[in-house]
Amino acid sequence: MHLRTPNPATLTPPDVVRAAYAELVVTDLARARAFYVDLLGFVVTLDAGSALYLRGYDELMHHNLILREGPAPAAARLAYRVRSAADLDLAEAFFAGLGARTARLPAGTTPGVGEAVRAEDPLGFTVEFFADADWAERLQQRYDLRRGAEPARLDHFNIVVSDVRAAYDYYTSLGFGLSETIEDEDTLYAAWMFRKQTVHDVAFTGGAGPRVHHVAFFVHESHQVLRTCDILGSLRMEDQIERGPGRHGVSNAFYVYLRDPDGHRVELYTSDYYTGDPGHPPLRWSVRDPRRRDFWGHPVVESWYTEASTVLGLDGRPRPLAPEKQPAEAGAARVQVGADGFTRLSRYPFSRSTASSPSASRARSTFLSNLPTAVFGISETNVQFSGTCQRATFSPRNFASSAASAVAPARSTTQASGRSPQRLSGTPITAASCTAGCAISSFSRSTEEIHSPPDLITSLIRSVMVKKPRSSSVPTSPVRSQPSRNFSGAGSLW
Ligand SMILES: [Fe+2]
Repeated sequence: MHLRTPNPATLTPPDVVRAAYAELVVTDLARARAFYVDLLGFVVTLDAGSALYLRGYDELMHHNLILREGPAPAAARLAYRVRSAADLDLAEAFFAGLGARTARLPAGTTPGVGEAVRAEDPLGFTVEFFADADWAERLQQRYDLRRGAEPARLDHFNIVVSDVRAAYDYYTSLGFGLSETIEDEDTLYAAWMFRKQTVHDVAFTGGAGPRVHHVAFFVHESHQVLRTCDILGSLRMEDQIERGPGRHGVSNAFYVYLRDPDGHRVELYTSDYYTGDPGHPPLRWSVRDPRRRDFWGHPVVESWYTEASTVLGLDGRPRPLAPEKQPAEAGAARVQVGADGFTRLSRYPFSRSTASSPSASRARSTFLSNLPTAVFGISETNVQFSGTCQRATFSPRNFASSAASAVAPARSTTQASGRSPQRLSGTPITAASCTAGCAISSFSRSTEEIHSPPDLITSLIRSVMVKKPRSSSVPTSPVRSQPSRNFSGAGSLW
């Protein structure tokens, strides 16, 4: 889907406060409850029979997560809270100005949530904006009730998009700031963007999209992440620990990725940092730094790169997937970039087959020319492209036929008074992150320019010597913290 460039003179974005909640369609609500409530420890605000409204222990808003039962897993919508009721009008006008389908929903359409505006955004996701919500009982110091991971609140969404640069532009126009990137001289592979004063409310990477990669919940302590893993192991549910626990490079967060009984990916996340000062400088990671996927250098499992949740439109039907547009994942040497922007090293290739890739061989884009400062890396030589698209592999927890609650179909801007069930067309929750042309490249280090503190350089040298064969000893840390423009407005960095 092509993004219409917003005109700042005519499109004023709503004042988004934060990522607030997600609605996931699950196929067995009792099984989902056992996972989210009994095991992970979410608080049930409302059990509506066919849906559960859950929140974390710090959360005073009605819910952070809706689990709605339906025939097939899917991500129905992502919801952002805005500052005031006036921002709903701005949201409606903003998306109408982008040519997006929108719907306005009266208060109470979603239990605990006031009047809302929904839209199919330019990236293909159903997003919701609301200002008012019911307050929930304060449970922060009810330690006697806590269990499992003791989730505190929703932290962020991670979405798979066909064009990361377009996603960056769109969210910039919505007033989001940029905290970190994965990039090289040509390509923006992934970006982390925020409204609340942490690393992100939303992150994106290239891939067949739109799909929801994961929903992340903040926990206060790393030991809560570890304890959750211990509990899963004790219950012989170790296969639901997909990746981690570990330390991210990007965000510095301590994390683990879990798969719920329907295959939806959930991240437990802690220890990121404050980003609220005006002009907060983004941290730019070179795509060739192996620590960005995991600060300790642990490999990333293949499913983490290839599987993500199907997205539903306003009418409750699965959104079609658009192929990846950017050279992104095919553009860097021996690198595959996942939804958190972490590399896949050549020692864990998706495929050793070789094919040409039009997208990967695309001439250097205008991306570089738009960068305020270059990302210092290594000159490329001898690029090969491994162009095998990966078919999704569906675990038994992932299914075919689907349905979901939905907003009544709306043409352009309409008033929708409620929701009606829609039969869907059998789209599975997870689709292949089919990336034509996975690049395998080798690099010369001769032009490497590393801008890292001495201690980092020392650690990098050690990691390269110990862990990497010479052929894959790509330069590690062209990590730069770039003074940047003030992101308090909608200005573009590039
Ligand atoms: Fe995340």
